[in-house]
Amino acid sequence: MLNIVIFGAPGSGKGTQSDRLISKYGLHHISTGEVLRDHIARGTELGRIADSYISKGQLIPDDLMIRVLEHVLDSNPELTSKGVIFDGFPRTIDQAKALKKMLASRGSRVHAVVGLEVPEDELIRRMINRGKETGRADDNPDTIRKRLVVYHDQTSPLRDYYIGEGKYHGIDGSGDMDEIFERIHRSLHDRVPELAESDAE
Ligand code: AP5
Ligand code: MG
Repeated sequence: MLNIVIFGAPGSGKGTQSDRLISKYGLHHISTGEVLRDHIARGTELGRIADSYISKGQLIPDDLMIRVLEHVLDSNPELTSKGVIFDGFPRTIDQAKALKKMLASRGSRVHAVVGLEVPEDELIRRMINRGKETGRADDNPDTIRKRLVVYHDQTSPLRDYYIGEGKYHGIDGSGDMDEIFERIHRSLHDRVPELAESDAE
């Protein structure tokens, strides 16, 4: 397995750049936000619980979120065998430690963390636009504000955690989407030998 975590604030482009990473490296994409929105749309019990947090811009509790991720990983062994792009997970230090354990028990690890760095006014602009275009429920000014506070308090400490592990690739996430992908590609190619090999295939 070749595993990449795509990390960044709400609206930083995690989903957008995941699509490009999938095409390039043939990895399986797991967006925990999409998993939860799918449960909300289907009206499951998990969806009902998730909605009560997402609508307030809060994180789903770690123990529940970790169980959900483990279930997604185990229910798609053939899809995840080549590797996974984790989009929106981990979001807390406890989730990062749980991911490390989960992958170690499968004989693997996180190979790289791509951190998309985007100024806050640009994040807000993007989410407000998307809210207008798609009607995504948490893309309204009040919930966006709360999501950004939660990101700063609970998620941004992961940057230092992964710098400490020597895995963090900070990427300027502003500007043209293809140029951002080129920055990601260059950074991974230069510093992650396993990906450089898969590039050459
Ligand atoms: P999640 O779905 O992960 O949302 P998020 O982190 O808030 O991020 P977004 O999906 O809004 O943005 P993105 O970074 O994917 O950017 P995108 O590519 O879409 O999580 C939602 C909620 O679920 C959380 O708030 C939480 O409640 C819960 N949750 C999820 N995971 C959890 C976890 N692990 N633990 C606990 N709770 C969890 O781009 C944004 C927009 O900008 C798009 O419209 C895009 O077209 C546009 N755009 C992208 N790049 C550019 C660019 N370069 N220039 C201009 N526009 C751009
Ligand atoms: Mg997303």
